[in-house]
Parts: sequence; C-alpha cells; structure tokens
Amino acid sequence: MSKNKTVGIDLGTTNSAVAYHDERSLHLVESTSGHVLMPSVVAVDKGGKFTVGHHALRKLKRDFDPEFVFSNIKKQIGMPAQEGEDYTTAYGPQIVAVNGERHFIGPNKQTYSPTELSAEILKSLKASADRKLKKPSSGVVITVPAAFDNNRILDTKEAGLMAGFKRVIIKTEPEMAALAFGLHKTPFTRFGVFDLGGGTFDIAHGTAAKGDINIEPPIGEELGGTDFDKAVWRYLAAAYQQDEGKDLDSQPIAKLKLMPTIEEAKRELTDLDNAFVRAQGIYIDYEGGGTRDLQYTITREKFDELTKHLVDKTIELTKRLLERDDKTPRDFDEILLVGGMTRVPAVRKAIEDFFGKARIRDDVNPDYAVVMGAAIAAAQEDDILPRTFNFSQSVAFSFGLEDEHGNFAVALPVGAAPGEIAELVVTTAQDGQASIPIGILQGDAGSKAKDCVRLTRYEHRVQPGPAEKPRISVEFMVDNSGQLTVTGRDQQTNQSFPIREP
Ligand SMILES: Nc1ncnc2c1ncn2[C@@H]1O[C@H](COP(=O)(O)OP(=O)(O)OP(=O)(O)O)[C@@H](O)[C@H]1O
Ligand SMILES: [Mg+2]
Repeated sequence: MSKNKTVGIDLGTTNSAVAYHDERSLHLVESTSGHVLMPSVVAVDKGGKFTVGHHALRKLKRDFDPEFVFSNIKKQIGMPAQEGEDYTTAYGPQIVAVNGERHFIGPNKQTYSPTELSAEILKSLKASADRKLKKPSSGVVITVPAAFDNNRILDTKEAGLMAGFKRVIIKTEPEMAALAFGLHKTPFTRFGVFDLGGGTFDIAHGTAAKGDINIEPPIGEELGGTDFDKAVWRYLAAAYQQDEGKDLDSQPIAKLKLMPTIEEAKRELTDLDNAFVRAQGIYIDYEGGGTRDLQYTITREKFDELTKHLVDKTIELTKRLLERDDKTPRDFDEILLVGGMTRVPAVRKAIEDFFGKARIRDDVNPDYAVVMGAAIAAAQEDDILPRTFNFSQSVAFSFGLEDEHGNFAVALPVGAAPGEIAELVVTTAQDGQASIPIGILQGDAGSKAKDCVRLTRYEHRVQPGPAEKPRISVEFMVDNSGQLTVTGRDQQTNQSFPIREP
C-alpha cells in the first residue's frame, strides 16, 4: 500500500493538473478522458449539476452555449468586489458582486462563487488521483501565483477544504517550478522563472544554494495565451470585414466558434511555418439568409507581427523586475521556462536574446513543471522524499493598519523576511471608549486606507477608562508561503488573541 496521503495540484487559469511522487517515481495523473491537463472550466446545468474539464469545454465548443460555462475562474477568486459593479467579461457569463465577492451567475439566477467553482475543479482532480492511488488522498499542495494576495490565498485554501481535502498547503508557482527543475539539488545557482501561461505572466528570480531556495517578490500581470489568440482574432475579423463586408464582432457566436480554431492554429505555428484557420457557419446572414464560412492562412511571420507587442511586454516586465532588484541579465546562470506559451518560438527567442549567456532550461515539460514541483513538495510532507530544501520568499505586499485619519499605517513592508514579526500599537481616542476598531490592510506604502485591500475588520473590546490607557500590540507575520497571521496582545493583561489566521 502506498504511503502517499498528499497530492500536488496546479490550479491554473486555463489548465489544471494533479500529480504525486511515490517511493519510486513521479506520477502525472490522467483523468478518465485520458488527459493530464484538465481545462479549468466548469459548466452547470439547469438542475445545478456540475460538469468539469474537457466535457465542460466541449459544451462550449459544440453547443456554443457560453451562458453557463464558467472559465477563467482563477482570475476572479478573492478579488475585491463592490456591490453594484459588474465584472462580466466579453461573451462570458455575468459576474456580479455578492457579499464582497465576485460571483458568476448561472441558471435560474443562481450565483456561484469562484471558490466553489474552483472546489469543483479540485474535486475532479482529487477523484482522478484517488482512483490511481487506490485510496482517498487527505492532503494537497495547491500552487498559486507568487503575486496572489492574502484574500486570494485564503479563498484557494478554502476551495481545497471544500473539495474534501483535510489538509491544504499553499505553495507558490515559481517555488514549485524550481523544485521540478531540481534546483534544490544544485550547489549554487542564480535563476529566473519565466512563466507565460494562458492568462497570466509571472517573472521571478532568486538563488538556490544546497537546498536553500530564496525567491524575491515576483512581478506578474494578466497577460497570456488568450491575448495572443485575441490579437489573431482582431486581424481575422478585420480581414473578413474587408473581404466579405461582414462585421464578425456583431455576432458573438463568431468569436465562440473561431477562438478554439485560432488557439489550435497558434499551436501549429509553433512547429510549422503556416496554419489554416477555418470555421463553418461563422456568420449568420439575417438579410440574405443562410450562413457564411471563414477560411484564412496565417503565416508564422504574420503571427509574430500581430503579437510582437505582447512578447515585448513580457521582456519589459522582466527588465522592470531586474531594475528593481539591481540586477542585469548577466547576473543569471539559468532561466526556467514554465507555461505552455514559452513554446512559442518568438517568446523563446526574446528570452534568449534578453538573457544572452544564461542557460535556457526547457528540459522539463512547461505544462507540467508546476504540478511536478507540487508533487515533490507533497511527497516531502508525507516523508516519502527527504526534506531537502527550505524556501524563503520575501513578503510581496505591505501589511498594516487603518489609522484614525483613514491612512494606511505600514507594519510589515514589501521585502520583509518571512517569519519576521512587526508590531504596531493601537489605543482608545476618547475617555470611556468600550472597544478599539482594528482594520487590517494590504496595499502600497503611502496609500489611503480606502485604496488598500481590507483583509480583516476586528473590534477589540476593552474596559472603559481614560483615553489612551488600553494599549494593544498588533503583531504581523508572514510565513514562507505568503500567508499572513495577525495577533493582538493586551499590554496590561499580556493576553493574546487571534485577529487573522491563515
Ligand atoms: N505548443 C504550443 N504552442 C503555442 N502555444 C501553446 C502550446 N501549448 C500550449 N500553448 C498555450 O499555452 C497556454 C496555456 O498555458 P498553461 O497551461 O501553462 O496555462 P495556465 O497555467 O492554465 O495559466 P496561468 O499560468 O495563466 O494560470 C494556452 O494559451 C495555450 O494555447
Ligand atoms: Mg500556470
């Protein structure tokens, strides 16, 4: 019987995957439809029944029924939401604010939180893993982008619990990629992690020395494969307008039908010089009757021209990170390629040109690097693999309190070391005050409280007395995986109480 209790999951914007590492080797788990990568897509029918992964994606492609098929769920998880605002994206289901969260609207106006939809994806991956393990897994290492803030981390963790895992460990994607490339076994290296996926770009750098892996706060942006696909769509729509005099933008179904074909063509252009984009019945001619087709050939050269600004943007962000940390491309020994989009020749060439002499590592499949690392970390949790590494990632956000003037008082600044404890003291402003409001914020130093992300609002009751007599120390600490703990301590009684726990 295998000793594995914990599995590793990469919960991606576009694709997700699960893996584990037993006494012998690493296993990438296939779903019942035979794929390791599962589309991060959840469909819900009128009876409230969920369908996940390939089957859900096929609903979108085959039935052209975008209404209750939810994708890009990760983009919404834990994001701030203001009542009355609409967060709907083009041609997707409606997204509205419910209790400070962004919810997707399903059949019968039922709303679904990104947390519960993510839980459906995790449940399906867990079922595949449990089938292969021949027993239920109880723990999971779930990866998140290093730039995920505390609310987004907590909601992801909650999704893991909802999916039936008893123990949920959150790790960041660049850290797990570093493990997959074996950096925990390297004597010394200075590395970058270039991760270009379907929806997000993350660039990180750090050093690894005999098992101590240190990663600086990365830079990330919503930029990925779908933006490349959209650039091609705009080009084709313009060409169609010119050649056929028809406006594809006016018919949402055109985009739905064409986008998957464009994505396939993009993959083809990774290996071939040109690709054929063809879709039938793309335009419904309400006046003339009947439907019209579309077919075009796209060359690699054209694709590169259409998407050059996106490739340039990744290099710009890379430059920005290096400048922030006083580094030059020559300060790197190796660059780890992660995410399906690093296969695109123009992306790869831009990385090679920028980093010059650094070794470009493509020896781990970029689709699986993150989940493989998560599987290694999971096996270490189960003591199947020796614990050969320590991580430290400097704190990626500033944390602090809302002061009485509505300003953000920073306790723990960006770049603080994990495990470092920072303290601010709060007190009463008036005689006889019975409680002290404690508002925990995350944001940029120098901001107003209203421009920060509010993590917790806490009322601490005190014995009414003269102003400024009760003194409460509020202690902030961020652990290795970016999770914040805030503890209060009454300086008179020396009693501690939790304000926020990971
Ligand atoms: N051979 C290929 N050529 C070109 N593009 C590819 C290839 N293989 C995958 N892609 C693209 O990679 C993207 C998916 O990447 P990946 O699976 O790494 O994303 P993800 O991890 O789900 O997203 P994110 O990292 O944004 O959360 C898609 O846009 C897909 O079209
Ligand atoms: Mg990814």
